[in-house]
Amino acid sequence: MKIVKTIKEVKDFVKNCKKQDLSIGLVPTMGYLHEGHKSLIDRACKENDVVIVSDFVNPVQFAPNEDLATYPRDLKRDAALCQAAGVALLFNPEPNEMYFEDFHTYVTIQSLSDELCGKTRPAHFTGVCTVVCKLFNIVTPDKAYFGQKDAQQLAIIKRMVRDLNFDIEIIGCPIVRECDGLAKSSRNTYLNSDERKAALILSKAINLGMNLAKNGEKDANKIVEQMKSLIDTEPLAVIDYVKAVDANSIQIVSEMKPPVLIAMAVYIGKTRLIDNFIYEG
Ligand code: PAF
Repeated sequence: MKIVKTIKEVKDFVKNCKKQDLSIGLVPTMGYLHEGHKSLIDRACKENDVVIVSDFVNPVQFAPNEDLATYPRDLKRDAALCQAAGVALLFNPEPNEMYFEDFHTYVTIQSLSDELCGKTRPAHFTGVCTVVCKLFNIVTPDKAYFGQKDAQQLAIIKRMVRDLNFDIEIIGCPIVRECDGLAKSSRNTYLNSDERKAALILSKAINLGMNLAKNGEKDANKIVEQMKSLIDTEPLAVIDYVKAVDANSIQIVSEMKPPVLIAMAVYIGKTRLIDNFIYEG
């Protein structure tokens, strides 16, 4: 496996792959890889001749008050995981390789970013779309892989690809959980042992919501209210949002008319965690 830092090296590698007619899968990440990322990488390795993983903590998707400086990083460990999984190229650029000092071009998606994380983190999805767009232009993959844990991000990227005519298939992969139910996330490392226990309230609320929906509750607000009441029983948890939206348009719904995405962001201490499920009917 090659580890490269420059866009030119990626483009040269891609050119060589295309000459040999090899299909390319891209897994965009911010590093500090865990089993969730590994599931994306494994699927990409199965479905493509060559897999490229980007490992880049994208400054543009963090607000000034967020955790850019403390976001966990471990390139050595990431490289070992990628190498073992069969990745061909790991792209680990510095911010100044991705963004010129006078960089002024951003990709913004309307409407789908109005709710959920987009409401609490107003510039976040512009940062995500901009960097993903750049990665798509640099790598020109056949397929790109994203986790369902970031359900709003996945819906937004699918829409961006359609709207901007990228010839790339977007593959969404299921949430990977710890044995006790907590969704895998690089940010779980911020939790101390009391917070780690408290964080289970997210997956408990997800299970509650899923069961209510499965048992025929059609009122989305009732499901959301019961999930919120359960989360409120955990003293270390502070709800940012729990909402039901149409899974494609990310607009609020009051009826469980599938596909409905029920998504949440909850602070456990200072750590903001997200989780979700999609009700398909
Ligand atoms: O999901 C992430 O890790 C990031 O938002 C992504 C897609 C790699 C863009 O920086």
